[in-house]
Amino acid sequence: MLTPESRLRDFPSLANRAYLNTAAEGIPPRSVSAALARYARDKDLGMDGRRLHAEQYEAVKALVAEFYALTPAEIGICSCSSEAYNLAAMALRLQPGDEVVINDLDFPAGATPWLQEGSPAAVKVWRSRHGALHTPDLVPLLGAKTRLVAVSLVSFFNGFMLRLPGVVEAVRKHSPALLAVDVTQALGRIPLDLGGADLVVSSTHKWILSTHGGGLVGVPKARARAWTVPAGGWFHLEDAFGPNRFDRAVSKPGAASFAVGMPNYPAVYATRAALEYIRRVGVAAIDRAARPLVLACLEELKRLPVELLTPPDPDHLAGILAFRHPAAEQIHAHLRSENVHVMSHAGRLRVALHGYNTMADVDRFVRALRAALTAL
Ligand SMILES: Cc1ncc(COP(=O)(O)O)c(C=O)c1O
Repeated sequence: MLTPESRLRDFPSLANRAYLNTAAEGIPPRSVSAALARYARDKDLGMDGRRLHAEQYEAVKALVAEFYALTPAEIGICSCSSEAYNLAAMALRLQPGDEVVINDLDFPAGATPWLQEGSPAAVKVWRSRHGALHTPDLVPLLGAKTRLVAVSLVSFFNGFMLRLPGVVEAVRKHSPALLAVDVTQALGRIPLDLGGADLVVSSTHKWILSTHGGGLVGVPKARARAWTVPAGGWFHLEDAFGPNRFDRAVSKPGAASFAVGMPNYPAVYATRAALEYIRRVGVAAIDRAARPLVLACLEELKRLPVELLTPPDPDHLAGILAFRHPAAEQIHAHLRSENVHVMSHAGRLRVALHGYNTMADVDRFVRALRAALTAL
């Protein structure tokens, strides 16, 4: 795990602040800046750089495969989670009468493609109770017409972590639906067991500590037919430049069909370096180090006059805690004045604890929060 020395060497910008906002933006380690500089050098080679870009692309697919417990051929790289979900929506070819289940703790990326006018499926919303999604509440929403259930493993809203096996079991038992799992708020922070997920999606700029511009897609081989994107483009086509190219376009099956054009190579270089960094430190070690911080922070929040939005059940906690207060903006301003960084959005404050955080960060946050509440 990180020592005080390696923490400051790898993340010099953390020196004097309590940065508790990784659920919005991760702080990349130095090796990510070095990877971006390498991209710039390779790009200067012009067309000769393409071979080097392609090597990075293959390396990042192999790394993502390790993290998702899939093979490199089951990984596709696009440019953000929203893009991945829109491409997934094309692949599903939904028809009138089809149904899609979303939930009210989810980020818009996975929830909204099916809500657009013109999307033919009926949308059902799995509603949370007291901040938690209960699998028995999902069951009545499932049936023969359900084509997709879209969930996030960890909610961006309040940090609630689903227990995936129960969800997989319910979906399999009560519908023929595919299960799409967004792991953006989990990847790099907690050990993953994605068994049963039919589609895995993650952004790159949060817990894995890479840059913006990546969408990491996992499609198990057995689901490749279901998730073959019928989009225009070229990078994903079986034969984009052959003699029959103006007769028909045929996508490569599965994960590869999610990369429709020239890859975002800067993000590819950065994500390779970031995932190598996370692998070197170890996700299990990160979780072991950061979990006590989450629990300590939770205990303090329970004692304070704030409305906790995160269900306190430790079995459903990952790296995020959220709470509400009518004076959230004032509190946020006070925290910032103390160089404590959390997310503030629509009356909700969100704290995110990663492997580079320390108990001193938690103490500083709690002290500043107490002072802000006292001053109101
Ligand atoms: C669960 C989840 N998915 C996706 C995203 C971001 O999506 P995109 O990569 O399309 O910007 C976020 C950002 O907060 C998120 O919390």
